[in-house]
Amino acid sequence: MLIYLNGEYLDRARASISLDDRGFIFGDGVYEVIRAADGGFFEPARHMRRLDLGLRALDIVLPDLGLDDLVEVAERLLSENDLGGGDATVYIQITRGAAPRTHAFPAAGTRPTVFLRTARYNPEPERFAHGVSAITHPDIRWARCDLKTINLLPNVLVQQRAVESGVEEAIFVRDGAMTEGTHANAFAVIDGEIRTYPASNYILPGVTREVVIELARELGMPLREAPVFSHELLRASEVFLTGTTSDVLPIIVLDGRSVGDGRPGPNTRRLQTALGERRRLGSSQSVARV
Ligand code: PDD
Repeated sequence: MLIYLNGEYLDRARASISLDDRGFIFGDGVYEVIRAADGGFFEPARHMRRLDLGLRALDIVLPDLGLDDLVEVAERLLSENDLGGGDATVYIQITRGAAPRTHAFPAAGTRPTVFLRTARYNPEPERFAHGVSAITHPDIRWARCDLKTINLLPNVLVQQRAVESGVEEAIFVRDGAMTEGTHANAFAVIDGEIRTYPASNYILPGVTREVVIELARELGMPLREAPVFSHELLRASEVFLTGTTSDVLPIIVLDGRSVGDGRPGPNTRRLQTALGERRRLGSSQSVARV
């Protein structure tokens, strides 16, 4: 498998980074995960815009690479790794680079580490058709959840809690309201209205979330970006997650209780179909659109 690291295309087994890399030492970096189908990317411009915002927020400057160049690198990796057909993901990670360990930024001129890899993506149709179980958990993350940083320890710990509880997913609750999943955004249907936590510093502005909101509006489905509180979740008729690798994933059991009648509801199914169609159309976007 070929990967890209700091200007070079290398066999994965030959690639190495410095022990002083600030991604390794501090989690000082950002990442993106982009879906590809048949060689085309889904919403590359939105992913690149979010990456750009993250780099700016962290004050990481790429000296000799534009974001369009990264998309070209990703395209080459897809084709060289024979992933030009079927579903795949592209992972992009950029850290502040390698430098002696000091908390403040290293000397000017420290080169960021730029890493891209591609992988086959195998959606498991059963999960999407039947839905999965989830737990809620206090949102133990920081107050910049809008940045897609590689610092994912709370997400890791809480996802592990889900696994140990025998369920597939976990949903964070902050100040009594459902914020998002550990690696996906969260929606609930309350009294016939779809609701999702407003875009703010407490959630990642998911690309899939944005597209699903647009699709719901196009389809005339009632939707509001407003918090869902825990007591409302108890009477939600539907709960679902959205994300690059979650699509529209129905949650049919939450904290051991059935959601609605314990089967994916009509809003969830409609948005699953609509997103599937958008993915088929959207993945034909070319680099020129970025
Ligand atoms: N996660 N919220 C969080 C905390 C996420 O990590 C993700 C994505 C999302 C959904 O964003 P998008 O629709 O842009 O994928 C929401 C990626 C897939 C991951 O960490 O692997």
